[in-house]
Amino acid sequence: MTTSTPPAVALDGIWKRFPGVIANHDVTLSVDRGTIHAIVGENGAGKSTLMKTLYGMHRPDAGTVAVNGTDMHMKSPADAIAAGIGMVHQHFMLADNFSVLENIILGSEPAHRGVIDAASARTDLTELMRTVGVTLDLDTPVSELGVGERQRVEILKVLYRGADIVILDEPTAVLVPEEVDELFATLRRLVNDGTTVIFISHKLDEVLQVSDAITVMRQGTTVASVAPADIDRAGLAELMVGSELPTPGGRTTDIGETERLTVANLSVVGADGRLVVEDATFAVRAGEIVGIAGVEGNGQYELCTAIIGLRPATGTVIVDGDDISTASVRDRHDAGVAYIPFDRHREALMLNSSLWENGLLGREASPELSTGPLVNIGAARSSTRDIIDRFGVLTPNETVPAFALSGGNQQKLVVGRSMITEPAVLIAAHPTRGIDVGAQAAVWAELRDARDAGCAILLVSADLDELIGLSDTLLVMFDGRIAAEVDPDDVSPAILGGYMTGATTGAAS
Ligand SMILES: Nc1ncnc2c1ncn2[C@@H]1O[C@H](COP(=O)(O)OP(=O)(O)OP(=O)(O)O)[C@@H](O)[C@H]1O
Ligand SMILES: [Mg+2]
Repeated sequence: MTTSTPPAVALDGIWKRFPGVIANHDVTLSVDRGTIHAIVGENGAGKSTLMKTLYGMHRPDAGTVAVNGTDMHMKSPADAIAAGIGMVHQHFMLADNFSVLENIILGSEPAHRGVIDAASARTDLTELMRTVGVTLDLDTPVSELGVGERQRVEILKVLYRGADIVILDEPTAVLVPEEVDELFATLRRLVNDGTTVIFISHKLDEVLQVSDAITVMRQGTTVASVAPADIDRAGLAELMVGSELPTPGGRTTDIGETERLTVANLSVVGADGRLVVEDATFAVRAGEIVGIAGVEGNGQYELCTAIIGLRPATGTVIVDGDDISTASVRDRHDAGVAYIPFDRHREALMLNSSLWENGLLGREASPELSTGPLVNIGAARSSTRDIIDRFGVLTPNETVPAFALSGGNQQKLVVGRSMITEPAVLIAAHPTRGIDVGAQAAVWAELRDARDAGCAILLVSADLDELIGLSDTLLVMFDGRIAAEVDPDDVSPAILGGYMTGATTGAAS
């Protein structure tokens, strides 16, 4: 690259206001062509807003956007796509009931005399997958894909539309380490071919490992641009949050005798008639965190949703001595089972409703929040304010709609809602997904406190350090089965990875 090449992206003096919030102020960002450029910063720092502005979804209140040296005045994503910019969002935007092929060509179908030419799209996509080094069955419905695969579909969709500037908003938040490696290999191939990649991440180790440059955002503006060679994890965190990095730890040995959650011979049949959970048997005792490691799609989701009653299953589920195997979702909730869902958008939030209505979800009939058949709005609002305070949800107040929160702050609200009721059993799926390093420590402390107070916690996470650091007992799910139990005090992420991919089998401890 010669010095005369203009940057792929140059943002200058960008401002963006929302009601009661200045999301971006005086932001400057320069991204060189053919590089991987990371953007880091606390939840609510303005990262997604800035990228949505670059992608034409927001019009900046002030400032300029230049692409390859040309000033742009984008009015919509269509303008951004025409300028060669593609974006994979923090929350995926695929249509579940359509195939991979349909999802990719949706909106850019090659037409032949007004008829969609699926055959030529198929040829082009097969060639594209070969170049990028990605394999997908184009005819599979998206609903049957795991997160890693969904993400590949999103990336292919962006490339299929001809993007040579690709924005990825927290692409690795949902991936296990092996999938992260595959993704970065793909990105590296793209960049070597001249594509520019901008990605947002809270995982500072991988940011340092894969990026060519890092820009740090804090409270709505860019505070530093650094080369990964010139900084370490602690230095990055300090630029972001002004404090030292937390680490998970402090495992307790104070596990009670009583089983609060007992799962016996639980099996779940999937859509294709195959067993997606096979004969799962385990218990979580009072004051215990049982972790479940696994690559997404190995039955963890089905196991958890069966335990909370969202999905038919055979076998037994007992909570505090009560057999709830055939109870409704509501009755299981009333028996003390709380759930932090896998996907905050699809399972946990009504995005157009206020925070207090979301804070109330699932708890409408609880005595503290209702007066007879009616919801006590004052109590519901004040309970949501408690969640906002205790879990550090960044928001002007509890009346704003959930979509106005940043991704990590939505997650804090969901976590807070399930924990503030002090449940007997907490099914926690990816509790810190999308949460910044500082707030992550706060959620870990909440989970440990709940455990120490006697809660039985079933923890599913893609973050192996989190699993190893928090779990008292650690199980591995592979191909629908509890395939191994490992000792969290004596297992490395690498060894755990071996069990998760089925490379290692059997009980280790
Ligand atoms: N559509 C919107 N309406 C109102 N406020 C918004 C909207 N989008 C973002 N905000 C606010 O702008 C600020 C920046 O949000 P943004 O989503 O850019 O943060 P982020 O850095 O991506 O955080 P995270 O790491 O949690 O995803 C937050 O205070 C957020 O609540
Ligand atoms: Mg974001």
